[in-house]
Amino acid sequence: MRVRTAILISGRGSNMRSLIAAASDPSFPAQIVLVISNVENVEGLTHAAAAGIATKVIPHKSFPSRQAFDAAVDAALSEADVTIVCLAGFMRILSDWFASKWEGRLINIHPSLLPSFKGVHVHEQALTAGVRISGCTVHFVVPELDAGPIIAQAAVPVEHGDTPDRLAARILEQEHKLYPAALKMLAEGGVKLENGRAVFQPARAR
Ligand code: GRF
Repeated sequence: MRVRTAILISGRGSNMRSLIAAASDPSFPAQIVLVISNVENVEGLTHAAAAGIATKVIPHKSFPSRQAFDAAVDAALSEADVTIVCLAGFMRILSDWFASKWEGRLINIHPSLLPSFKGVHVHEQALTAGVRISGCTVHFVVPELDAGPIIAQAAVPVEHGDTPDRLAARILEQEHKLYPAALKMLAEGGVKLENGRAVFQPARAR
């Protein structure tokens, strides 16, 4: 049985598309059953619908508090019988309550080699720091922003004369490979969150 998975987006949804593409192979261990956006009419929703995936818009502005918004997202996920949640360019900070409730089943992709360069303007941060290598990270989501245990990373060289946009594009190519690989690993039990750490199980031991 494939693991029922939802993707939360706020915009373009290119990582969402890479997850949907990977999961369109019936041998992939996760099945994408729902895409939720907190913003109406974004590009990602159009792509998800075109791929035949159920979509739902839950506009955060319609809720009186973060907790009320998170409760609505949680209800939609439960209604769709979701087990794993992937954040993919989801631009809302989730409450501690939500992160705790979904602990070990909630993952995010971030366009830097964490723990370097958390938050926003990530590529500007990398260029300002002068690092020669940046990259992307898939991690378990914990209450603290961009701080959860790391599941997978890919390194990308910073080139001379890079702009934030050029570096972002080079990293995004790797994101599109890394996120499906990380979701596969989680869905087939190759990684678990235990006592605040990512614990890896080699395939032969499962
Ligand atoms: C990606 O760079 C992702 O790492 C970050 O936001 C961006 C989303 O892009 N969290 P997309 O919506 O997946 O195209």
